[in-house]
Amino acid sequence: MRGYSDTIRDALSRQNARLFAPDERKSDKELRRLSVRETAEALRINYNTLRHHLKHMDGFPDGRLEPGNRRTFSVEEIHEIQRILYEAGKIPREFYPRKGETDLPATIAVYNLKGGVAKTSLTSNLSEFLAVRGYRVLLIDLDPQGSLSDLFDVKADIDDLPSIYDVLRTEGPVPITEAIAPTYFPNIDIVPGSLSMTEFEFETSASFRLADGVGTPWHRKIVNALELVDSYYDVILFDTPPHMSFAVIAAVFAANGLLIPVSAGMLDVVSLEKFLDLGASTLEVVEQVEQEKEYDFMRFILTRYSPHDQAQLQLSSFLRSQLGPAMLKTDFLNSAAIGDGSNAMQPIMELGPQAAGTRKTYDRIFECLQNITYEVEEEIMASWGFKLPKMGGE
Ligand SMILES: Nc1ncnc2c1ncn2[C@@H]1O[C@H](COP(=O)(O)OP(=O)(O)O)[C@@H](O)[C@H]1O
Ligand SMILES: [Mg+2]
Repeated sequence: MRGYSDTIRDALSRQNARLFAPDERKSDKELRRLSVRETAEALRINYNTLRHHLKHMDGFPDGRLEPGNRRTFSVEEIHEIQRILYEAGKIPREFYPRKGETDLPATIAVYNLKGGVAKTSLTSNLSEFLAVRGYRVLLIDLDPQGSLSDLFDVKADIDDLPSIYDVLRTEGPVPITEAIAPTYFPNIDIVPGSLSMTEFEFETSASFRLADGVGTPWHRKIVNALELVDSYYDVILFDTPPHMSFAVIAAVFAANGLLIPVSAGMLDVVSLEKFLDLGASTLEVVEQVEQEKEYDFMRFILTRYSPHDQAQLQLSSFLRSQLGPAMLKTDFLNSAAIGDGSNAMQPIMELGPQAAGTRKTYDRIFECLQNITYEVEEEIMASWGFKLPKMGGE
């Protein structure tokens, strides 16, 4: 196993060097810049209104003039435009992506014990859409496999960085601020995952035998750790592993919102029932020593969905009829631009239309993610007491 692991790691790093040449790391590559139209969408301003402001108000970044006289902005420039417009009263408070001073960050666990239901793809794509909107996002990768961390090019095990394990471990835990790494994407930081998270599980079960009642109880370790960063982030997103673990329960306990991806297969629905039952039972264990856990929201999202597939169509209407408004209206569509292929590891926001087959394919999945983000944002804003206008109803 070790031999094959070495072989694959070497091959991957060679491939990485090729993909991101001449820069060796993904982080060194310039991020895609957004057109004025995309900027308007990100700021939730009418396109012509934005153009009007850009022409008649002062102080905006110039952006860059591309061939064909098209202006583009970097994500940082978009945030600068947003700040100026907000301060000038051109963006209403409910479209301004900041929690109030006394609000807690929206802390959302992307949670389902089944593997392959697009937890990591949803977390990465959603985080980038929220970050472009201007939210300050912290990702926490609880999967020992660390796929989300790999995606954001923060590799704790390879680069010997502190990981979520170091925050949670029994012996000499570090403050979470020491384990937070910036990513190449503006407004996104991450506490990377690590294989050593498996240690946390051993330590925690050993502590039951020791049961000395000293130190932080395991289920509070994440909530307590997050207190340090409450004022720095607007949204905290947990990506979870496809198995039950103490860390997952601690994250679900720390979250104030749950986002549950479900794929539309018969076996997925059967496992959903078992997963929810198990999830509820584990929380009940925690509730024996805590108050009853209340969530601001709990929403299901259909993932990898192909509306042209009859069987999937039937299952989706079954789920909708049973779960009602708990299901997001927007399904996370199956898209070649996200699935495995040459684009693997690239969230849609970074890809850009050229890389995604046809323009139509790209626009479809981009719009889909925009709508998912809007619905999640409705929940985030509601948790801070703001009401977003209905989607598309500007
Ligand atoms: N919307 C989608 N369209 C096509 N393929 C997808 C989509 N979402 C995820 N996938 C693919 O499904 C596989 C599992 O996704 P992943 O996000 O890793 O799931 P999980 O984290 O739940 O295990 C990956 O190969 C990913 O590329
Ligand atoms: Mg995953």
